[in-house]
Amino acid sequence: MTKPTSELETFNLLDLIRCPYQTLGKYIILEATPATGILYLTDNSPNFISGHIRLRGKYEGRYPYKYLDMIENIFGPEPNTIEVCSRSVMARHNGGNCFTVDINKDTDPDLVTDAMTLEGVSNCEYDRWRADPPYNESTAMSMYDTALPSTAKLLETGARICKPKSLLFLLLGPQNYQHCPRNLKRIGWICITIVPNNELRALHIFYKNE
Ligand SMILES: C[S@@+](CC[C@H](N)C(=O)[O-])C[C@H]1O[C@@H](n2cnc3c(N)ncnc32)[C@H](O)[C@@H]1O
Repeated sequence: MTKPTSELETFNLLDLIRCPYQTLGKYIILEATPATGILYLTDNSPNFISGHIRLRGKYEGRYPYKYLDMIENIFGPEPNTIEVCSRSVMARHNGGNCFTVDINKDTDPDLVTDAMTLEGVSNCEYDRWRADPPYNESTAMSMYDTALPSTAKLLETGARICKPKSLLFLLLGPQNYQHCPRNLKRIGWICITIVPNNELRALHIFYKNE
């Protein structure tokens, strides 16, 4: 009897890539346009994207310039996106193109709530989740007047409210972050150096597989 093929066995990262790529020896490489840098998959690990990019930083811990454009260029735009820890990302009620959530009402998000629980957001409601939490305890307190949220809880809740086959993008600082909820697959890690101060950030990418 033939074994049923699971979703994971059929997962192919290249099916999700929307920009041009080319093969170079054992690498499949792509430009991280409009960021500066090259990303790659390898033939023995074709479902994982990594590499190093450079981006110009913005003040107050905002997303670096071109960060969101890079994600859209590589993976395509997704109108049904939720952005948690959103701060200056424009809310849908103000004309933005994603649903925003922040714990600080002064940032005027679509929903003021804790992104670790996302109370009021249904299971499997969104097709993409993005998060940019504070990077450490001292920044959380000094810059945003909040406690540092648990990365594991943010991600587990992101997995809850996303539909299967969603992409989840988590921007962190340089810490080694390993936890991956059972219903997510880790599909990317991209090192980002920020110009001009050489701060180090890491973009962790996940795929919801069930
Ligand atoms: C690094 S900033 C995000 C910057 C954003 N990417 C931008 O481009 O403006 C972090 C944000 O996380 C929010 N935050 C902190 N803890 C949170 C939590 N538990 N739930 C939701 N938002 C939280 C803070 O209020 C702050 O606005």
